[in-house]
Amino acid sequence: MTATLITNIGELTTNVAAHGDALGTLHDAAVLIEGDRIAWVGAGGEAAAVAARFAGASARAHLVDAGGRAVIPGFVDSHTHLVFGGDRADEFEARMTGTPYAAGGIRRTVAATRSASDEELRARLAAFVAELHGQGTTTFEIKTGYGLTVADEERLARLAAEVTPEVTFLGAHVVPAEYSERRVEYVELVCDAMLRACAPHSRWIDVFCERGAFTPEESRRILAAGVAHGLEPRVHGNQLGPGEGVRLAVELGAASVDHCTYLSDDDVAALAGSTTVATLLPGVEFSTRQPYPDARRLIDAGATVALASDCNPGSSFTSSMPLMIALAVREMGMSPAEAVWAATAGGAKALRRDDVGALAPGMRADLVMLDAPTRVHLAYRPGVPLVHTVWIGGAAL
Ligand code: NIG
Ligand code: FE
Repeated sequence: MTATLITNIGELTTNVAAHGDALGTLHDAAVLIEGDRIAWVGAGGEAAAVAARFAGASARAHLVDAGGRAVIPGFVDSHTHLVFGGDRADEFEARMTGTPYAAGGIRRTVAATRSASDEELRARLAAFVAELHGQGTTTFEIKTGYGLTVADEERLARLAAEVTPEVTFLGAHVVPAEYSERRVEYVELVCDAMLRACAPHSRWIDVFCERGAFTPEESRRILAAGVAHGLEPRVHGNQLGPGEGVRLAVELGAASVDHCTYLSDDDVAALAGSTTVATLLPGVEFSTRQPYPDARRLIDAGATVALASDCNPGSSFTSSMPLMIALAVREMGMSPAEAVWAATAGGAKALRRDDVGALAPGMRADLVMLDAPTRVHLAYRPGVPLVHTVWIGGAAL
């Protein structure tokens, strides 16, 4: 089994609170990786002795001197829309001169996606995966939602499943143009033939529960159909205005409700009393010039907050988790530690994964070494590429 011993880590974020502070920070630390798992985490002074205890590990361990740099768990991006054709740079340009964001733009990407071949979509996905990995994202979710026919949604789910186990069926993204006078029929299609085609490739079901997309009643029906097919629910809610998305997600025990920009006191209380994660997507507000969600209010109330990129061609065409951290700290009232936790452990909770998002023996060896002495630099130096080395399942990129 291959082994790697990383020593001389100036600041190690484990996200294991037992080590002291909430992020389980260790200084002058070391990590031993065996195969694709973390074998040991601890004080640098003990590293050599510990490595020797692991059968064979010390003899064949690849030694890495971190030179005092910070190491954090790999980012967990729990919300992306990475399978699509074309882009909407023209729409972005118009928005920057005053045209507001509208969900209707999704239909343009639907048209471009339908006309792209499997090979084209596969090549773009591969490029996106490289882009994410290079920025320290080691686990990511991908939604369908730009096909909106049975055949197109099935192929988007299938292609996404080639690169991640976290595939979300989002046939309920918008009602496609050809069904605009027949929305009841479209909801029926999503709940029946489309769901049956996509469920074998998917873990999750999601609905865009928003004015201009799907009503709370339609959303409830679609999510229930997904659950009946063995999928787990998550919801896009309260992005463009107040609504029932958050309460629906909590009521259904959804893993996460995403956006959460317009929340009532009842919404916040419902999230705080639930296991549903509030996933905030500040790339959207940055790219659409809308007000940022109030992370401070959610955290102070006791809700669990995650950060994700929502990478998509309409509302947030960035896959950078360091950018999300910088925006969350500067615009949403989060401390640097809270933002780093939300982009790692928070994302893992939003995907109900207990093998990623923290660094402890037995967990996947997904780590990022920063070209910086502390994790604070992720927010302190926005826009600067600080990812030095990424390990995914124990293998350095
Ligand atoms: O999460 N909210 C719905 N879907 C995307 C936007 C997709 C698009 O504009 O193409 C989002 O923001
Ligand atoms: Fe989204």
